Amino acid sequence: MAKANLLPVLLLLLSLSAAVSVSAHNITDILAADPDYSQFNDFLSQTGLADEINTRQTITVLVLNNAAFSAAAGSHPLSVVKNLLSLHILLDYFDNTKLHQITNGTTLSTTLYQTTGTAHGNVGSVNITDLKGGKVGFGSAAPGSKLDSTYTKSVKQIPYNISVIEISAPIIAPGILTAPPPSADVNITALIEKAGCKTFANLIASNGLVKTFQSTADKGLTIFAPNDEAFKAKGVPDLKKLTNAEVVSLLQYHAAAKYLPIGSLKTTKGSVATLASNGAGKFDFTVSVAGDSVTLHTGVDSSRIADTVLDSTPLSIYSVDSVLLPSELFAKSPSPAPAPEPASAPSPSPRLAPSPSPLPASPPAPAGEAPGGAPADAPSAAAERSTSGKSDGVHVKASAVFTVTVTALSAFVISAVLS
Ligand SMILES: *[C@@H]1O[C@H](CO)[C@@H](O)[C@H](O)[C@H]1NC(C)=O
Ligand SMILES: *[C@@H]1O[C@H](CO)[C@@H](O)[C@H](O)[C@H]1NC(C)=O
Ligand SMILES: *[C@@H]1O[C@H](CO)[C@@H](O)[C@H](O)[C@H]1NC(C)=O
Ligand SMILES: *[C@@H]1O[C@H](CO)[C@@H](O)[C@H](O)[C@H]1NC(C)=O
Ligand SMILES: *[C@@H]1O[C@H](CO)[C@@H](O)[C@H](O)[C@H]1NC(C)=O
Repeated sequence: MAKANLLPVLLLLLSLSAAVSVSAHNITDILAADPDYSQFNDFLSQTGLADEINTRQTITVLVLNNAAFSAAAGSHPLSVVKNLLSLHILLDYFDNTKLHQITNGTTLSTTLYQTTGTAHGNVGSVNITDLKGGKVGFGSAAPGSKLDSTYTKSVKQIPYNISVIEISAPIIAPGILTAPPPSADVNITALIEKAGCKTFANLIASNGLVKTFQSTADKGLTIFAPNDEAFKAKGVPDLKKLTNAEVVSLLQYHAAAKYLPIGSLKTTKGSVATLASNGAGKFDFTVSVAGDSVTLHTGVDSSRIADTVLDSTPLSIYSVDSVLLPSELFAKSPSPAPAPEPASAPSPSPRLAPSPSPLPASPPAPAGEAPGGAPADAPSAAAERSTSGKSDGVHVKASAVFTVTVTALSAFVISAVLS
């Protein structure tokens, strides 16, 4: 009884402390306050840069209004827009006061673009110079660049974590707008094959999905390719028993029409829609994070991200340890008890613990009559692999208790220090 009363409190504390510990600022929220920054904001999200900003401390975002931004970003590929935006994210804190008190009137600041490894020399830095009449000018630090952009106003400051200031025009580094999109010449099948996912590569080739992938790759695509071991694992449904449409849905379920670098996956809240998502089914999954380990939960089974095969805006490819089984195809019964997997709950997910029943040897299908031609919609051995529901619940509670302990402890330490 006491437990029942405490649980909501524990969960509240858990969510509060999670909210505080994940990040102190949210650039998407900050920019959402002004519709004139909506394009800049959208592209920060699409490129995964918003997550990068949120996980960093001591950062300045030089924001452009919609007119200034669209003039520069135009119809450039997302990879180019990402580089351009990265050049507007300074790895230092500049507010109105600091901008007007620069020592000797000029300085260089490193930007996020510098950290990509594609910027050579000073190309990844920004020159900030106090001009006559109290104006502050910005330009590329590359030799010969002009200070074409000026400070217009301060948008938001959280000293000394994040400062958002508006500038009049984009900062353009030499060559930044003409770089070819890296994904244009990527052979997705070959990459996936080389990463130890030959079975998956063959499946997407023989089911006509390579074309879909290759044609969406420029607009944002993330592929989760199960490795060859995953297809040999016990409990993986026999693909020959699925209809063609089901096989296609299963394969589509392993991709999202969105660029999700690992930092974005880690901060994902709620569910991720896949290429299989449509009117007939959600075909989504949730994500949990424990330290450096990222796990996808389908509601039927879970799979750890094994490796990053490619991260090249706007295309990400990962190899995963298990075939992802959408509940729309593989749930035991039509009782979709939502089993809400708390995103980013640090559950170690003991997915191999209960040894699953091998599929061909002893099918645990109840009605003992189906001779060989088991109905395509119920590979129940696969469903049996998931025990996530209950055991994860236990982990959540355990970590809630842990959090409460930590919170209480730190409150104690703080009050001890203060008194
Ligand atoms: C700045 O960030 C730190 C660490 O995330 C946080 O503890 C602090 O409260 C933040 N400062 C403000 C003013 O929000
Ligand atoms: C930041 O705010 C946006 C919009 O309110 C929200 O969708 C997103 O989940 C938030 N991100 C984090 C990391 O809290
Ligand atoms: C400012 O200028 C002086 C004299 O030219 C120089 O010695 C000093 O290093 C400069 N300071 C900075 C921070 O650039
Ligand atoms: C910034 O640019 C101006 C104008 O080109 C130049 O005079 C100044 O030396 C530059 N600042 C630094 C720190 O390089
Ligand atoms: C991509 O790689 C696969 C496997 O190595 C090969 O069969 C295919 O012809 C390649 N496609 C292109 C367009 O080069």
